[in-house]
Amino acid sequence: MSAYVQCFDESCAQRYPLHISEHLCERCGNLLEVRYEDQPSAASKLRATWLQRKSSNKIEDRSGVWRFRELLPFVSELNQIVTLAEGNTPLLEVPEASAWAGDVKLTIKHQGNNPTGSFKDLGMTACVTAARMFGNRVIACASTGNTSASMAAYGARAGMKSVVFVPAGKISSAKLAQALEFGAAVIEIVANFDEALRLLRSIRAELGLYVVNSINPFRLEGQKTIAAEILEQRDWKIPDYLVVPGGNLGNVSAIAKGLFELQSWGLIDTLPRLVVTQAEGANPFYRLWKAKQVEIIPQPNPVTEASAIRIGDPVNWKKAYQALLRTDGLCESVSDDKIFAAKEALARDGVGCEPASAATVAGIRKLVHSRQIKPGADVLAVLTGHQLKDPESSLRRRDEKDLARQRIRVEPNMKELLSALETVLNADSQLSLK
Ligand code: F0G
Repeated sequence: MSAYVQCFDESCAQRYPLHISEHLCERCGNLLEVRYEDQPSAASKLRATWLQRKSSNKIEDRSGVWRFRELLPFVSELNQIVTLAEGNTPLLEVPEASAWAGDVKLTIKHQGNNPTGSFKDLGMTACVTAARMFGNRVIACASTGNTSASMAAYGARAGMKSVVFVPAGKISSAKLAQALEFGAAVIEIVANFDEALRLLRSIRAELGLYVVNSINPFRLEGQKTIAAEILEQRDWKIPDYLVVPGGNLGNVSAIAKGLFELQSWGLIDTLPRLVVTQAEGANPFYRLWKAKQVEIIPQPNPVTEASAIRIGDPVNWKKAYQALLRTDGLCESVSDDKIFAAKEALARDGVGCEPASAATVAGIRKLVHSRQIKPGADVLAVLTGHQLKDPESSLRRRDEKDLARQRIRVEPNMKELLSALETVLNADSQLSLK
């Protein structure tokens, strides 16, 4: 099947070769998209093929992206793939979080269970594979942290040099440590993410850097496979709503592309309603959606403790807008307090995630209460990052009283130890010592 890159705007539809390193249409300035000449042969048998591969030990089948390789046939030789066996993440019911959100049946898809702890790995396996295939030597990104950790890991795996632009002092130390450990050069820019990305894009050509941010359409090719994985895990039953946190808006655009293709190839009949949730202090897409504006109005100083989605000028907003229009989607905006309350609700189910991910559950609660999500609905939230991505915020946000009850320092003597344990365990009737 032959693949090519095309302007995402149908009225332009300018085509480009796959190896193009500029990621906007030279003719109209719009975003680009990877397209394929024809649909996969034997589309009707794909579900069975994908299932069969689950019992294979070949690396290309153990990857939850490349197991669905008919969805991204831009790779001709399987030995070209750069993979860390990403994907295959769990789908879990979360009764406590569900009750907190209101009258819904909530399940979560935990993308934190990926090799570097976030959904970015799905996009990065595809994008770094493409980067290497097209002969690039240096990959680069601007990042709020997760993209940099993921790119650095896949870059190391591919034997490529990685250069990361991050907002200085604005990303979690866990994410920074990942990028450093994987050998990336980390340029800390004294500005926010949007400025870092602008700077990177302006010097890309001069320095011959291959940018792997979600403006690169190959990132979306990898990330779109989550649609197939979710539906397979649900025996192809479509949820009523599929909810993702929105930052640069690559993920919702990727999931939408995956769903549209599955539909056009006859693997599903209907679509879930896509929902984007943003943090109140970094919600330019929410504002656009609510006001039915024609252009996004960037926020120069986005603020939220959910640092992963602290983005004021999302590059994929046009794709995301179309995704919501085509799926009768919704958009919601939530306060940081509610994000951390959602994180606590998930924790009662034994599920941890980073703050940005919990914005989904906080948004669902708000949409249930305003009846924009129908009572009793089947709702799926994508948790995008691992709990350990941002331990500082978890500690900072613990209620002081809870912390005082949970965390007690003692001298190593029996009397003090027993007294501390009695205080702790008796505070919770279920765990009472007596
Ligand atoms: N959740 C997490 C944990 C993220 O790291 C990001 C984005 C998002 C949600 C939003 O996804 O940008 O596709 O809408 N993180 C990027 C980064 C920007 O650099 O790691 P999006």
